[in-house]
Amino acid sequence: MYSSESKVLTGSNTAEGRSTPAGSAAPGLRRSGDRTAPIATYREVAPRVRRPTSSTTYVPRQTFLAFSPPLVGEEEIHEVVDTLRSDWLTTGPKTRRFEQDFARYVGANDALALNSCTAGLHTALAALGIGPGDEVITTPMTFAATVNVIEHVGARPVLVDVEPDTLNIDPLAIERAISPRTRAIVAVHYSGHPADLDAIEELARENDLFVIEDAAHALPARYKNRTIGSGRNPTAFSFYATKNLTTGEGGMLTGSDEFLERARPFSLHGMTRDALSRYAKGGSWRYEILSPGFKYNMTDIQAAMGLCQLRKLECFDARRREIVETYHDAFAGEDALELPVERHDVRHAWHLYVLRLRADALRIGRDQFIDELTARNIGTSVHFIPVHLHPYYRDRYGYDENDFPVAVSNFERMLSLPLNPRLSSSDVSDVIEAVLDIVHTYRR
Ligand SMILES: Cc1ncc(COP(=O)(O)O)c(C=O)c1O
Repeated sequence: MYSSESKVLTGSNTAEGRSTPAGSAAPGLRRSGDRTAPIATYREVAPRVRRPTSSTTYVPRQTFLAFSPPLVGEEEIHEVVDTLRSDWLTTGPKTRRFEQDFARYVGANDALALNSCTAGLHTALAALGIGPGDEVITTPMTFAATVNVIEHVGARPVLVDVEPDTLNIDPLAIERAISPRTRAIVAVHYSGHPADLDAIEELARENDLFVIEDAAHALPARYKNRTIGSGRNPTAFSFYATKNLTTGEGGMLTGSDEFLERARPFSLHGMTRDALSRYAKGGSWRYEILSPGFKYNMTDIQAAMGLCQLRKLECFDARRREIVETYHDAFAGEDALELPVERHDVRHAWHLYVLRLRADALRIGRDQFIDELTARNIGTSVHFIPVHLHPYYRDRYGYDENDFPVAVSNFERMLSLPLNPRLSSSDVSDVIEAVLDIVHTYRR
């Protein structure tokens, strides 16, 4: 289990500690340093996030601030090189160690390492026997992967609207959508804020449904007194390049012991034995195919990165929270900005910092706001285009744009600001100053 009190390690490839070009910054403004050093090394220093000072003249930063670059250190490089020299590249001892360390971290008995979160969600649906004729209820406020995998097993995705504060799936809307064909609910912990699991699980119990958790954003996160990933629900994490922990591409599945026992062969062709247990001394060449499984296994190269990233996760998490507090403090008084929430009974993983613009206080909309940030050298993103607006889902299921008004009305006014442990205090100040400059320029 993770704890919130830890020393912060930060990459020295941030602008922190570098001198700014002479004469380039106006007094009171901080300029980001160069980014010529591509690789992070670690030092046990927590750079203090300086609160932005009020300034009369806004001067944009000189280099583009990428939305979410990975923070990879020498440790990862050494561990990957060690794997490359080891004669064992695919699923093997490091993958097993990563599974065990990850399980211990989230408080699970065991875990199954895969090559993506998408693979985890697909494997979960298949291992639970969900298929043609079944319905699976989920949210439109997610990346398409959550819904695509429901199509992959031949089931019908049934989308329902989200709650206005967290933008997580709304349990009341789930209740209205349950039919005799419903087999499962896929709850996405949007942006790292856990969905309302008690209410969702009560509906699942009453209607004999599975709950699958899409925890792509939720590492580390807690709902009430449980860590996401520690329970019996099949739960899929993502280690994609932008995620809170990255292996380049990768994922992890947790759940009950019985579930993992069923899921493990599904992730490797449905075979009874993986390569290590066949090729290692004393292993047997024989294997059987128990089901037409997938090729979703993680490699030891990915696991090498994961082992290092996992050791740094508490530090990454602490740094994310520090940046969120700074954003909150800086934006709190602005009528034009609605800030992301953290309900009192959860611990947010803060994968994303999603700002929502208030149309009545601004003369520009979301798209122009993003263009203005780009012009100020600040990278952003939007999470997400609601799934029912994508042509495939719109046309296949005949969705109308207004079928999920909470998702759509929030999508239209949302943007995600940079939030990652690589941001230096001057990067954070640059983001804040750019946002406030746009708000003040375009205030109604
Ligand atoms: C909510 C959500 N679910 C699932 C995924 C898929 O993750 P992966 O790329 O590891 O398959 C993503 C990816 O960004 C996501 O944001």
